[in-house]
Amino acid sequence: MPKKLSAFKEYKERQQPICMLTCYSFPTAQIVEAAGVDIALVGDSLGTTFLGYASTKDVTLDDMRYHVAAVKRGCAHTYTIADMPYQTYTNKEQALSNALLLIDAGADGIKLEGAETEVIAYLCEKEIDVCGHIGYLPQTAEAPKVVGKEIEAARQALADAKAVEAAGADMIVFELMPKELSAYISEQLSIPSIGIGAGQGCDGQVQVLDDLLGLSERTFKHARPYARHRSNAIAGIRQYCEDVRDKTFPTDENASHVDDAFIEELKNT
Ligand code: KIV
Repeated sequence: MPKKLSAFKEYKERQQPICMLTCYSFPTAQIVEAAGVDIALVGDSLGTTFLGYASTKDVTLDDMRYHVAAVKRGCAHTYTIADMPYQTYTNKEQALSNALLLIDAGADGIKLEGAETEVIAYLCEKEIDVCGHIGYLPQTAEAPKVVGKEIEAARQALADAKAVEAAGADMIVFELMPKELSAYISEQLSIPSIGIGAGQGCDGQVQVLDDLLGLSERTFKHARPYARHRSNAIAGIRQYCEDVRDKTFPTDENASHVDDAFIEELKNT
């Protein structure tokens, strides 16, 4: 595993796409590592995807630490980035102490939303690996929306990406941006861009594991379900209930045994 996020710049230089995937638990982290994912992201999407919160804004630093630790136990050899939750990086000192808590829980680097250049520069100065995030920003945007379709928004996205790079970030996520804009901005940067709903011109891609495995109830334009675990799981569990109800599970093979004499002895005690 690369020890530093900056090592992924080499992937960009040799045009090797970077594969990032969210994960929130020990078993999925083991699966992500076994599948050879380059970077595991403990995203704050865990709030809505895994914890059933109404918004990613509800995710706390304690939530993140709990999940980062579980993920790291499952993928010790995969570079792991943790999202800094909403309002945990409102100034540089607060950001540093919270980032150190995530790193103490097992994160190799952190990700934060927006062109928060002062905070990013400070964390980098303290040798913390930082991944930026521009485009649609779930922690502050009102609703999901493609960002950069109007020329002013596109100029702003370009300026933000350059500012995040200049502040010292070693990677940047582009969420919900037009393909051509992401491709153009990616060319202007030396750090790798990782897209979600941002097209093929990015230096890598990130997806939410639950969307990829077909665990989510919803489907999204930016995602492709590579498996159908939700429907398979429901079918499997229905079958289990049916088998319990008609007494075909468990069978003798699923039980351990003592002989009749043993029960007789028990009766006589
Ligand atoms: O929280 C998350 O999962 C993310 C990705 C969508 C990039 O930030």
